[in-house]
Amino acid sequence: MEKFIVKGGAELEGKVTVSGSKNASLPILAATLLTSEQCVIRRVPDVSDTNYMLQILQNLGADVERASGTVTIRCANLHRHDAPYDLVRKMRASVCVMGPLLARLNRANVSLPGGCVIGDRPIDLHLKGLEGLGADVQVDGGDVRLEARYGLTGDTIDMQGKSGATVLGTDNVMMAAVLAKGTTVITGAACEPEVVDLADFLNAMGAKITGAGTPRIEIEGVSELGGVEHSVIPDRIEAGTFLVAGAMAARESITVRRINHDHLARITETLTACGCPIEKDGDNLIIGKAENPVGANIITRPYPGFPTDMQAQMCALFATTAGTSVVQDTIFPQRFMHLSEMKRMGANVEVDDGTAVIKGVDQLSGAPVMASDLRASAALVLAALTAKGETEISRVYHIDRGYEHIDDKLADLGADIRRLPA
Ligand code: EPZ
Repeated sequence: MEKFIVKGGAELEGKVTVSGSKNASLPILAATLLTSEQCVIRRVPDVSDTNYMLQILQNLGADVERASGTVTIRCANLHRHDAPYDLVRKMRASVCVMGPLLARLNRANVSLPGGCVIGDRPIDLHLKGLEGLGADVQVDGGDVRLEARYGLTGDTIDMQGKSGATVLGTDNVMMAAVLAKGTTVITGAACEPEVVDLADFLNAMGAKITGAGTPRIEIEGVSELGGVEHSVIPDRIEAGTFLVAGAMAARESITVRRINHDHLARITETLTACGCPIEKDGDNLIIGKAENPVGANIITRPYPGFPTDMQAQMCALFATTAGTSVVQDTIFPQRFMHLSEMKRMGANVEVDDGTAVIKGVDQLSGAPVMASDLRASAALVLAALTAKGETEISRVYHIDRGYEHIDDKLADLGADIRRLPA
């Protein structure tokens, strides 16, 4: 295992380029199962989650080549239809092979993903949606066995859950429906940009999908799909993470490059309201150090609401922002592991029933802390940038799941961050 050593106080300046989106890449890589022709996908970030997905595809029989950010995949000779526990337990998103495997092979066996530190991660909505298309679903011994002996048939499928829409659930049903007989209408669909990027990829393969990005998606089934070339959208959460780094630690300002401004609207609005000067510069954003930042009240919501994947990073900003900030995570109410670690650094926070109350202090103090999940780890790195002294962040494999070389990118901006063996 490895750790980061971050020495607080180094000021950031210069430019950082955002990688391709991890959360768009994962379902798009799974969608290559839907054709026997070659697919070329550009700007796939080199992170462990995408590497796990490629391993799962290879396990199923796919030919995979990777040259820096470009992945070439050909699923011509699939010889298995199962995603085994030892791979699924490492990455929950592997459940999104269920839909394409059902559509291509009429069956799929996928291990139940289990929970993780950010909360219970059920897939009941995925299974209900696939049953709605005619799949027979059996849950047995920690595995989900799905079969559609006579193929899938389009229908109207409601994907709304108690916490709102499901991103990967919407992806799974959409990927199952593209080769189903007849037309499928998904209501209560997730509207995230990553769902839209998947729909664009599927349509380029020959699918007939309309309404992606709205709660109502219509899919007219086709008989087959072809190979395609596609570039993945920029990672809006990585971009937001670097914007917070700039707001906290810029000497004057930093430039975050390759931004889709629509995808970051709620994040930039919130940072602006907190007193962080942000300026659009073409496809870039220039963010200045927040001279007199003010706290905010944040409630996470499905897109286009404030993203749950950015709440930990905002907590890092609020920990040293004068006044009181309140952060409520309605999607993953347990997603506050980062705060117990920030408390070790001197943060003044209280968490109760999915809501954190953060009273800003002048400065945190460096301390040994432990990463627990992807976004919590990023928040600890952000907190360390302005903390007094050195912070040692252990278990950085969590951050490597979804950030491409974050230590190199921060060091290039001037941060004093080193990766060492634990
Ligand atoms: C996606 O996860 C993202 N992951 C997550 O990002 C993100 O936090 C999440 O969407 C919410 O935006 C990927 O895209 C790979 P959900 P997903 O199904 O699709 C409940 C990161 O940090 N639910 O949208 O797995 C669930 O419990 C990761 O990059 C059900 O009840 O999340 C949650 O409360 C972490 N039943 C809510 O819906 C289901 O069948 C949203 O979950 C499915 C979900």
